[in-house]
Amino acid sequence: MERRRQAGYGIPAICLHWLIAGLVLALIGIGFAMRRTEIDPVLQFSLYQWHKSVGLCVLVLAALRETLWLFAPHPQPVAGLGPIERQASWTTHVLLALLCLLVPLSGWAVVSTSTLGMPTLFFDVLIVPALPLPRSAAGEAFWSLVHAATAYLLAALAALHAAAALYHHYIRRDAVLLRMLGRMPATDPRTGGHGGGTGDGTGGRMRR
Ligand code: HEM
Ligand code: HEM
Repeated sequence: MERRRQAGYGIPAICLHWLIAGLVLALIGIGFAMRRTEIDPVLQFSLYQWHKSVGLCVLVLAALRETLWLFAPHPQPVAGLGPIERQASWTTHVLLALLCLLVPLSGWAVVSTSTLGMPTLFFDVLIVPALPLPRSAAGEAFWSLVHAATAYLLAALAALHAAAALYHHYIRRDAVLLRMLGRMPATDPRTGGHGGGTGDGTGGRMRR
């Protein structure tokens, strides 16, 4: 129960957040480049292989983060947020977390249904088994569409989410971004609480 009341994110949650965020943003760039631009076929083939391997890493890391959520629940929202802001932030986090599973799973479905039957090599070391889906041109087209749509939706939501984090940091001047960077504002000597924590009477605002 004590963990439920903690003011900030733990080190594993912070590391997973930034690792997943960096890999997802790179994968969106690589995915766009390999699929939508005219590039050398050898480079394109190599990008596909990297994209699939790194994408599967995101699947594993996102599953790990979601498992962590079960045992180390989210910290309390930063004080001073209204009910609509809390709801919007919670909904965005859940959607981002779900998309981090759905996007790589749909990518795996694309290669599993492809009639080319090209093996997926995990960093040139392991052959990744196909998902138990029938191979067909229609199936591949369907999963390609799902993969592209969910990947670009994830990109749009992540941009919105990052803009919200920057708004909180530079305009609202609260601790939302700082606590995801593992830097809690100084302890309030009057209350013994954190500036960005719960119920310290500061509205979560930083003193700088
Ligand atoms: C979070 C992880 C991932 C992200 C953000 C991502 C993103 C993308 C993007 C943006 C595209 C270009 C879509 C388009 O413009 O049509 C793409 C294409 C593709 N991705 Fe991913 N991807 C991820 C994971 C995976 C995984 C795990 C696999 C396979 C194991 C995969 C396989 C593919 C394939 C085969 C294509 C080309 C699809 C086609 O030819 O229509 N992706 N991905
Ligand atoms: C694809 C990229 C991203 C994804 C998928 C993502 C996903 C998430 C998720 C699921 C959470 C909930 C907490 C947790 O991780 O357990 C979260 C929190 C957070 N993210 Fe991201 N994020 C991304 C990029 C970014 C970027 C670029 C920034 C900053 C510019 C950012 C700033 C934050 C902050 C400050 C929080 C904590 C919010 C709070 O405590 O209310 N994220 N993010």
